Amino acid sequence: MKVSLIGSGNVADQLGCALQNAGHEILEVYSRNLEKAQTFSQRFINCKVITDVDFSNSEAEIVLIAVSDNAIESVVERLKLSDKTIIAHTSGSNSLDILNRFSKAGVFYPLQTFSKERKIDLSNAPFCIEASNSEAFNLLSELATSLSNNVHPINSDQRKVIHLAAVFACNFSNHLISISEKLLNDHRMDLYLLKPLMEETIQKAIAVGAEASQTGPAKRGDEKITHQHLDFLKNEPEIQKIYQQLSEAITKKYHA
Ligand SMILES: NC(=O)c1ccc[n+]([C@@H]2O[C@H](COP(=O)([O-])OP(=O)(O)OC[C@H]3O[C@@H](n4cnc5c(N)ncnc54)[C@H](OP(=O)(O)O)[C@@H]3O)[C@@H](O)[C@H]2O)c1
Repeated sequence: MKVSLIGSGNVADQLGCALQNAGHEILEVYSRNLEKAQTFSQRFINCKVITDVDFSNSEAEIVLIAVSDNAIESVVERLKLSDKTIIAHTSGSNSLDILNRFSKAGVFYPLQTFSKERKIDLSNAPFCIEASNSEAFNLLSELATSLSNNVHPINSDQRKVIHLAAVFACNFSNHLISISEKLLNDHRMDLYLLKPLMEETIQKAIAVGAEASQTGPAKRGDEKITHQHLDFLKNEPEIQKIYQQLSEAITKKYHA
């Protein structure tokens, strides 16, 4: 398929490369910073940089909007499209309605975490697809299926819940890991020490469920250790607050 991209960040980069590797053509890229757009376009064969979001003469079958969530609306306001082009965004938290100026609109949400520095295999990544009509739905599903064997029809209300759940499972978990990293580094140790523990935590939660997997001082009701930890963190009030709130939540859940 012929695809054009709006944005040059984490998602545009990973999806663009994966689509090109799957045999699709990345025809055009738009990014608000021209220099970035030019560098980014060089990742793709025969890809043109466009300087405004005017795709009215584009041959793209699909234009993917992969800009920051709070920028989608302003991009859409300026967007010009030919009647035959399908427009889709990649956001977990924006509804399909944000594209209702266009008759062939959809959502192409890859449920994975993307950073430019790390290439990931998308073959098993869930793709959540929603569209304003069956033509757009079928083409977006076909595009997703060319990347992944895990493609689902998901409406905007469902996607909001999925995105919220993903913030807990991915973004908040990662923040907690970054606290572990800091504590270890502050004492001249490395996060690598926790690698088997982190891997088993995720694998166990997937295998037996997170509720059944909980361990630790708060789960055991071991207040002496909890107080020791809080005391250790007395010079790190932000981390101490997080420790306290999570411990209280675990205690409530298992000892109420
Ligand atoms: N990262 C993930 O793990 C992930 C996963 C699934 C879905 N998504 C969704 O994919 C979309 C893009 O996320 P991302 O992680 O790729 O973000 P990102 O790496 O931060 O890139 C954002 C892109 O949007 C551009 N942008 C920001 N504000 C803009 C504006 N006002 N006008 C025009 N362009 C603007 C940025 O341009 P500059 O480079 O010039 O700042 C950049 O090209 C979001 O809707 C996000 O929710 C992200």
